[in-house]
Parts: sequence; structure tokens; C-alpha cells
Amino acid sequence: MGFDRSNFQLDPEQRQQLGYQLIDRINAYYSSLSHRSVQPPMEVRGQFPATAQLPELGEDASRVLESICADLIDRGFHVPTANYFGLMNPTPTYMAVLAEALVAALNPQLATNARSQLASRLEHETLGWIAQRIGWQQEENFGGTFTSGGNEANFSGLALALTHHFPNIIEDGLLGLPAQPGFYASAESHPSLEKSLGLLGIGRKFLRRVPADHRAQINLNALEAQIQHDRAAGLLPLAVIGTAGTTSSGAIDPLAALADLCARHHLWFHVDAAYAGALIFSNQHRRLLAGMERADSITLDPHKWLSMPFAAGVLLTRHPELLESVFGIDTAYLPKSSSGPLPDNFRISAQWSRRMNSLKFWLTLRVHGRVAYEELIDNQLQLASYFEEKVLATGSYTLATPRALTILNFRARLADDLRLDDDATAALHREIVSQVTADGEHWISTTRVHGKSVLRMMVISYLSRQQHVDALVAKLHAAIPNAAEALGLHSLRR
Ligand SMILES: Cc1ncc(COP(=O)(O)O)c(C=O)c1O
Repeated sequence: MGFDRSNFQLDPEQRQQLGYQLIDRINAYYSSLSHRSVQPPMEVRGQFPATAQLPELGEDASRVLESICADLIDRGFHVPTANYFGLMNPTPTYMAVLAEALVAALNPQLATNARSQLASRLEHETLGWIAQRIGWQQEENFGGTFTSGGNEANFSGLALALTHHFPNIIEDGLLGLPAQPGFYASAESHPSLEKSLGLLGIGRKFLRRVPADHRAQINLNALEAQIQHDRAAGLLPLAVIGTAGTTSSGAIDPLAALADLCARHHLWFHVDAAYAGALIFSNQHRRLLAGMERADSITLDPHKWLSMPFAAGVLLTRHPELLESVFGIDTAYLPKSSSGPLPDNFRISAQWSRRMNSLKFWLTLRVHGRVAYEELIDNQLQLASYFEEKVLATGSYTLATPRALTILNFRARLADDLRLDDDATAALHREIVSQVTADGEHWISTTRVHGKSVLRMMVISYLSRQQHVDALVAKLHAAIPNAAEALGLHSLRR
């Protein structure tokens, strides 16, 4: 297919042909996801085609498109397959894939309403649906914005907390503060909180990590003690971050008790519900989040449990005026005030130019409805419970943390006379993962909970079924003797 090389224009037939070519590829890919391996076998993994030189002149579009599709699909790592039992990365809904193409084509500039009137309104509508499911009434004053993910949403939430306590901080900086601020979260909370405090100039070590109990939930007595200790030492406790769905275990902190504690101590309450915030869409399970509606700010990532492709994070707050205090700024080339009832996004967000990250979620909800998420959550909770039952029934593994949601933490079960320290256990777990993932079909991972090595399995794809779990369990069972042999451990089983 030859092009006029003086610009990027294609004629309608070329556009159609390339579009059909790509959609046929994506369609075939989606048809393969229920049986596709996560990645190539170990022996051929990482064997990529030679890196292309910077192209001076272009090549035939159809051929280049075909070749990159083949490379990415044949040699790639496939998060969307039913066999991915990994981190919080889902199979995107097909409606979301279509929405992404539409957004790329229309390229609405979400920085200002003036250049994205309808897009901004749809985005606000989507935020309203989320707020409503959190339990915030329509007449309630809330604000929010779509973000690139949980990291940016947490950063923004902590910036709001800081500005709430010190309204001049954005102009005057940290030097005017009367004392060193302190922030509090569980030992199992996400490191994006430390990253945020580093970037905000507070210092990473002023995220006080409070011990978690055996269920990986924050220990309330230890939290209270740490706050009092810090106060006595001259620090200024400012905010508590509760996690709804810890990354390693899926644990939900006692949110209502945290809300009470924050009220008692006049602290900002942020909830990192990046993963488990999805439960708001389940009538049956949303009670697990009771207390989250009292948060001052909330992080919720549709690109985790809500099956959206990257990027789709959300920050919501019950203090919308603070968004402008933190992020608002004037510039000669943009209007001083918004052209409609909604604020301009560049004034309420850490981003400036921004893609429309909301349409994929809006479209998925319009086409499938909330009930589809209710069913997704039910199915995945049942499948995680099925995995728990099956993997423990092998006799080769024990439970490391009580299962909260769709994540299981488990350990290799050792013979009574075999004692391994944590380094040796971690090496064994890595070897088990290596055995289980060698042929590329499945993917699971290791992590640490309470500082100790565990194996981690997560149901995250809406395509995963019992047969995928059965195959994974069989592999885990078979991996034990092989891993033991590889590490020179004569017997692991009782
Ligand atoms: C609980 C939690 N919060 C925040 C994040 C960061 O989210 P993102 O990767 O979308 O920036 C993660 C990432 O997994 C997470 O698990």
C-alpha cells in the first residue's frame, strides 16, 4: 500500500482496509484468550526481533501492521488471558477497547471544558455514578477527576490532606509549616504512598507504617499509639490512609473504625480503594467497604477489578474546593474560568493535557450495566474460594493469610523435620513459581506479607473458569518435588 509521503493522510479505502485488518487481528486475539498462554515458554522467552533502525522513509502500512501484531501477539506477555493469575491487571472489556479507539480518533482535550464540552460532561457523569455507589448523595458536594492510576490518585489525595491542614502550603511551600507532618497507613499499604510523600516534600519516612494483624488489616491500637507517640515527639499527625484491598493479600482495613479515629483526632481520612473499591458495584458485597463513604478522599482504579485497560484511575473527594486550591493555576493561553458549570480539569488535576480516560468505563456500564459487575465480583470470589479449596486439598500448600477477596497467599508445606528460614523459603517459592510458569501457560507470583515470603495467586480475568484453576493447581502440585530437587531439599512433604 503506497502513501503520499508528504503527510499522514490516508484515503478512505486505505483507512478502512487497515482498520479491518487490525480489528480482525484483535477479534481473533479476543477469541483466543480463554486458552492462550500468558507468554512463550522459558527457552524462547525474550527472543525479540532485531531492533529496527530509525525509519527515514516509511514502509507498506499493511505489512508493518501485520508484522507488529504478529510479534506482539506471538512473543508477547498476555495479561488479558484467562490463565493470568497475577497482579491487579485485568482482561479489558471489548467495549473499552472500542472506546479507546474512538477516544484516540476524536482526541478530546480534557484540560478545559471549552475544548471538550460533551466529553467533560460524560466524564463528570461517570464520576457521579461512582460517587453515588460509594453512598454520596447527588446533592452532596463532591469533586473528582480521572487519573493515570492509583499512584496519581493517592498523590492527589495526600496533597489535598496537606492543603486542608495548611491552606497556604501550595504558595508558600513547606518552610512555613509549624512542625513535621505525619501520615499513617498499614504496613501492607501500597508504596505509592511513600512515593507521594517524597514528591510532596514531606519525606518518605513520615509515612508511618503501622503493623497489620494476621488478616493483613491495620492494627488500630498500634495506630492510636503511633499517633500519640508522634504528637508527644512534636510531629503533626495529618492523615490516615486506609486500604481497601491490599496489593499482596486483598485485605480491607476496618474503614468505619478508621473514620471514627480520624474524626476523634481531626485527621484527614483517605481510602486507597484502588482494587477493592470495585465492590461498590455489588449490592451483596459493598457492605465490606462500610465506612469508606466517610472518607475525605478516595482512590479507585477502574483499570484493576473493573476490567478497564490502562489508564483509568479515579480520585474523589468530599472537599471539591480543595482540588482548585491544590491544582488551580492561571495561564494567559487558557480561559480564567470554566466555560460551563464544571471546573476545567487542568485546574483540579495533577495533569494538564489529558486523554479521556472515562469513556471506556462509561461505555462498558452503558452496554453491560452495573449488574455485570455484580456478577463478575460474585464469580471471581467463588473462583478464588474454589482455588483455595483445591490447592489446600493437594496437601502441598498451607494458607499464609486468611483470604479476603480474590487473592490467595499460600506457602509450600514443609515436612515436620524440615525448617527453612525466610530466605530459603523465598528461594523455594521463587523456584516453585519458575516451575509453574516455565511453559508460559500460567502466571502467578511471589510477594511478602508481614515481611515473610508467600506465593500469591489472584483471580482477575473475567474469562478465568474452574478448568483454568484446575490446571494451575495440578501444576502447583507437580512443582513441589521438582523445586525441592532443584534446591537439593530431599523432602518437602509430610
Ligand atoms: C492498593 C494499591 N494502590 C495503589 C496502586 C498504584 O496504582 P497504579 O498502578 O494504578 O498507579 C496499586 C497498584 O497495584 C495498588 O495495589
